[in-house]
Amino acid sequence: MQIEFAAPTLPDGGTLVVLAAAGNALGPETEALDRQTGGLIRRALALAGDRFKRKSMLELVAPEGTGPERLLIAGLGKADEVKVADLEAVGGAIAVRLRGLGLERAAVLVDPIGGLSLPVSAVAVALATGAALRGYRFMRYRTKPEDNDATELEALTLLLEDHADAADLYRPEAAVLEGVRHARDLVSEPANVLGPEAFAEACRALGAEVGLEVEILGRPRLQELGMNALLGVSQGSVREPFVAVMRWSGGADGEAPVALVGKGVCFDSGGLSLKPPGGMEDMKWDMGGAAAVFGAMKAIAGRQAKANVVGVLGLVENMPSGSAQRPGDVVRTMSGITVEVVNTDAEGRLVLADLLHYTADRFKPKAMVDLATLTGAIIIALGHEQAGLFTDDDELGARLQAAGEATGEKLWRMPLGEPYAEHIKSDIADIKNVGRSREAGATAGAIFLKRFVGEVPWAHLDIAGVTFSKRDLPLAQKGATGFGVRLLDRWLREHHG
Ligand code: BES
Ligand code: MN
Ligand code: ZN
Repeated sequence: MQIEFAAPTLPDGGTLVVLAAAGNALGPETEALDRQTGGLIRRALALAGDRFKRKSMLELVAPEGTGPERLLIAGLGKADEVKVADLEAVGGAIAVRLRGLGLERAAVLVDPIGGLSLPVSAVAVALATGAALRGYRFMRYRTKPEDNDATELEALTLLLEDHADAADLYRPEAAVLEGVRHARDLVSEPANVLGPEAFAEACRALGAEVGLEVEILGRPRLQELGMNALLGVSQGSVREPFVAVMRWSGGADGEAPVALVGKGVCFDSGGLSLKPPGGMEDMKWDMGGAAAVFGAMKAIAGRQAKANVVGVLGLVENMPSGSAQRPGDVVRTMSGITVEVVNTDAEGRLVLADLLHYTADRFKPKAMVDLATLTGAIIIALGHEQAGLFTDDDELGARLQAAGEATGEKLWRMPLGEPYAEHIKSDIADIKNVGRSREAGATAGAIFLKRFVGEVPWAHLDIAGVTFSKRDLPLAQKGATGFGVRLLDRWLREHHG
């Protein structure tokens, strides 16, 4: 969606969104518009009464000669309490409503309402961000639009006195939104289109587009490195596995980077431990962690972050076949730790085992965060409301949680204590890739990963419940959410530049 900021002159024709806070508080321009329309706005608000709340919307036909043809009053709630996340949600609601009206473009009058807890330019940016996020849809495979997706809200203009300020404030956000959009596109692509090779190609293309250094490691190189856990997962698939390494060097020369590691299982059939058919189609989304890292790399390059960041993506497909890994197989990971593969459907941790070791060993990062749609168990624990956070590092954990609160991509800290290490003991190898059936399943996955991170400060985000949504959300149409991009960007911005 094209976002513009301009001086507050009322548009001739079209739809104008105006804002009203609790107690029918209006800004000066909106007051003027109310007077000009014979008190239309105030009468509409009085009629709605208490039912007009935050995210409420009143649609009015403007009297002839007003300028705009239609007015949409959007509710902000209590002016002195309103937070950025609330305004983003209002922006999202505006986008949905405008699209519902069949509009391709509209303007929002961002008036300085008395008592607002934020500067007007921040209000404008939050509304724009929410509209852009909620307005996203994946339309690539609709050859004939259906009624409810006939229109695309293409452009939104925010009208305010401080439009130059708002435009400056929006610039880095636009880079982040572009990262989110691209992550969502990747997550939405079906597995026949986006296999490991196509994903690796997308990484290469991104590098050329935004100036990231990109290395693509194919099977021969992965064999040389001894990434046998990752290779074992991919060996049932006819598609070659790849590891993509993307580097952004915006920080000081020689300063240790921050590392982001993503699970990119382009399709997870379960392998020989085959998943049941019901819902298996969702497993095209099993690369959401890698997509989040991809999007975050795009965001930090787009906003020219002053940080050294390396993104490492494990791109594989988990399929059953005559060449597939068998339950009971033992693999020697790159770290030397041996793993009994009891269940070929616990493949994400096998991919990450080699990636985490490789990343820690090669880059000696000052912090390492992995994102993975790792377990169904995290959905049992947390539903789709937030992701699971596993770390032994309280400071890193608190910082990530704070970034989650600020962006609405929330994290709930889960246990990672030593007692759980017992759960993954194997009779034949150092460890096995499953825990004790239904006991603490998400922690069993995390404790497995912990064996491969060495001394690096590390956190694991289990995003299985949040990478896609089966319902519309305040900031995302149902489908891919892009979860992780905004969170990682915020964490990096606050602590690493
Ligand atoms: N990709 C799945 C986890 C998943 C499940 C993501 C549902 C999104 C929605 C993962 O590879 C998996 O299959 N995990 C198993 C682990 C088990 C075999 C120990 C699971 O959670 O059932
Ligand atoms: Mn699986
Ligand atoms: Zn998986």
